[in-house]
Amino acid sequence: KRPYKIAVIAGDGIGPEVLTEGIKVLNKTAELDGSFEFQFTYFPWGCEYYLEHGKMMEEGGLEQLKAYDAIYLGAVGYPGVPDHISLWDLLLKIRKGFNQYVNIRPITLLEGAPCPLKDVSREQIDMLVIRENSEGEYAGAGDWLFKGQPNEVVLQTGIFSRIGTERIIRYAFEEARKQGRSLTSISKGNALNYSMVFWDEVFNEVAKEYPDVKTYSYLVDAAAMFFVKQPWRFEVVVTSNLFGDIITDLGAAIAGGLGLAAGANINPEREYPSMFEPIHGSAPDIAGKGIANPLASIWSASQMLDFFGHEDWGKRVLSAIERVMIEADVLTPDMGGTSSTTQVGDRVIDGIQDLNTSNIVQPT
Ligand code: NAD
Ligand code: IPM
Ligand code: MN
Repeated sequence: KRPYKIAVIAGDGIGPEVLTEGIKVLNKTAELDGSFEFQFTYFPWGCEYYLEHGKMMEEGGLEQLKAYDAIYLGAVGYPGVPDHISLWDLLLKIRKGFNQYVNIRPITLLEGAPCPLKDVSREQIDMLVIRENSEGEYAGAGDWLFKGQPNEVVLQTGIFSRIGTERIIRYAFEEARKQGRSLTSISKGNALNYSMVFWDEVFNEVAKEYPDVKTYSYLVDAAAMFFVKQPWRFEVVVTSNLFGDIITDLGAAIAGGLGLAAGANINPEREYPSMFEPIHGSAPDIAGKGIANPLASIWSASQMLDFFGHEDWGKRVLSAIERVMIEADVLTPDMGGTSSTTQVGDRVIDGIQDLNTSNIVQPT
């Protein structure tokens, strides 16, 4: 059997609760397929680990993770540890350290998913947001001068390299070409007179190599408005690190909520492991209650199956997620139900079993 070695970083808050369900789902696909298996190794890193050891991950943690085929992550960050420490020393460290410069976040309104927009049909929200994931506004560069003085000044510098900007835009063009869909760039060249002017320039340059791909360009403020008013304008979307962060929470909100939104942090060259995680955080307000929605983390597990070349299983998992929402009798409170995290996970597994038995792979 082909073994997939997965590093599990469940992390904080609802992270462990939702990952447990994703792991159940992955194991179910392996069991039914028979040609591959998952070997999970658990890393206890996160805010509790920090409070005990004074660091978010073990010394040489990245080195250890290199041995794995992928990383499956829950959530990082919890009250008690400053967010900029917990995130920079674990989640962002992995994204950067492993050059996971592509963040793929599907914003697709599945059938049955709760949508807050009026008169929007399923096909009208179907986009793939490709977020730059290694630099930009998240370069971590800056300074804090004259701390506590009247003349205090704080700098947070965005860094947009030619290599970094070109590779994400080119990745997005390739994806749009493959899908036969349009590509929309979201930027802000009117106010950000260096970074985003450069971004737009690179976008226009690379576009010349893809005359077959229809392109659009929006300022991020207008894009936020159109996400809500006319989401069908967007198909494949490429944007910077911070804009991508914000716009995908908005995207999650219009397509079923944070409990359903998944993401993959990809190192396309496969020099390093890629990382799969829901886009939500540790949700301290509901942690420990057993009511977190596991569908986002299960969807990211489906992205992992796709990444390993098991698109047939990836599709089945997505269909099983969709079926849970169509049936609508087993849902967590964020989707209007009264069921537990575990019950929803079990329902997805039943769905996978049924799809396998009837051998129907529904289009999604
Ligand atoms: P959050 O995503 O944790 O929660 C926002 C809201 O959405 C909360 O009301 C929460 O209950 C709800 N929610 C989120 N996921 C849910 C799920 N699966 N099921 C049901 N409801 C869900 O964002 P936040 O509250 O701003 O951040 C909390 C902590 O998580 C912070 O420390 C933050 O830095 C961190 N964070 C981490 C990640 C990550 O690890 N990738 C992402 C975002 C935030
Ligand atoms: C996300 C999160 C992270 C980000 C935070 C926790 C650093 O919000 O994955 O969307 O901004 O990338
Ligand atoms: Mn975010």
